[in-house]
Amino acid sequence: MGMSGKSLLVGVSGGIAAYKSAELVRSLVKCGASVQVVMTRNATHFITPLTLQVLSEQPVCLDLFDLEAESQIGHIQAARAAELIVVAPATANIIAKMAAGIADDYLTTAILAATAPVLVCPAMNVKMFEHPATQRNLGTLKDLGYHVLDPDVGSMACKEEGAGRLADLSKIMEKIQTLLTTPSLAGLKVLISAGPTWEPFDPVRFITNPSSGKMGFALARVAARRAAEVHLVTGPVSLAPPSEVTLHRVVTAREMQHQIEELAAHMDVIIMSAAVGDYRPSQTAPQKVKKIEGRQEVVLEKNPDILLSLGRARKDSKCRVLVGFAAETENLLENAREKLEKKNLDFIVANNLTQRGSGFATDTNQVKILERSGKILELPFMTKEEVAERIWDHVELFLEAKTP
Ligand code: PMT
Repeated sequence: MGMSGKSLLVGVSGGIAAYKSAELVRSLVKCGASVQVVMTRNATHFITPLTLQVLSEQPVCLDLFDLEAESQIGHIQAARAAELIVVAPATANIIAKMAAGIADDYLTTAILAATAPVLVCPAMNVKMFEHPATQRNLGTLKDLGYHVLDPDVGSMACKEEGAGRLADLSKIMEKIQTLLTTPSLAGLKVLISAGPTWEPFDPVRFITNPSSGKMGFALARVAARRAAEVHLVTGPVSLAPPSEVTLHRVVTAREMQHQIEELAAHMDVIIMSAAVGDYRPSQTAPQKVKKIEGRQEVVLEKNPDILLSLGRARKDSKCRVLVGFAAETENLLENAREKLEKKNLDFIVANNLTQRGSGFATDTNQVKILERSGKILELPFMTKEEVAERIWDHVELFLEAKTP
């Protein structure tokens, strides 16, 4: 995630989950953000200001009446500088104060003085969270335009079970990234395919490839951050579903084809990053195939080419930008160009599978984007998330060019 140049105010209030704010601050700083931590007095019982000061690389704001820090009306400056305020953890007490507009300490005063978006991450005992007063206060915050990230469900420090655990760090980071991102794909429906397909020849064996789904999931995450309505059709992978994305799980190429055909008519943009099996066993045995003496032969038949069908149906579809991937071990540009033309795509993303750190199951990729005009954009080696950003930037250029 890139947050370089972004200024965030992280408000920490006094609950046991306050210790988790250390990891949040550390992750934000690692992503390049400038983080101003503001603590409530109660939060200092759970985590020391020094810890957060070291991790944020900035003095922590705590005392509204600190003569030195407040000589420049520091709380107003902190409120003005923030592009986003994140209150994590947000206790029932601070939620109630925010809902009522109370400003009786550094954090509540800064929140009231800020015009930046505010993300509230509640964390408290399940009964406190479910109490009608807390629910009413959270409703008020939403009505005021604050963003509320629901707490996780699970076991708590107080030995009770239920909703009230501070949302997982990855969810908080994803929400922060979304709130810092321009919603440039708002109003658009996009479909992304990801992962491998499994083509079974008996109930426990199948033909597949090493696709992990990382590239397709990164494309889905980035599109969701840019506010698109995202449908992710994925073969079997072990990745956590991205938030704000509708996930459609499939197994075989034919299941993927059915699912994509069902959705495609409504989509503005389609990106096929899945590694669809080109062949399937012509027969699937109902029971596990027994070992025999000598050779066992499997006859393969061709799977449908999903992208080829999408390309052929373009004139009757709503799809304005159609993108494919090409995974090659030789003649990268030549093979990719052929697929670009044959499948009637706007552009194709070419992966060199022989290059270290690129292609299947890596966190990084180095790709070339080929357009029908002959133009080639060579991207440097980067994370799959960064590649996804660049692919969506490219899609947006095509959308802009096609807008009358
Ligand atoms: O999932 P990861 O581990 O992150 O790896 C990413 C990736 C290497 C799988 C991905 O970046 C990639 O290159 N995906 C395409 C792999 C592939 O199947 O390429 P291809 O050259 O065989 O197919 C060309 C295009 O046609 C692809 O967009 C593919 O989705 C599509 N296709 C292929 C076969 C088929 N029967 N139907 C299709 O729609």
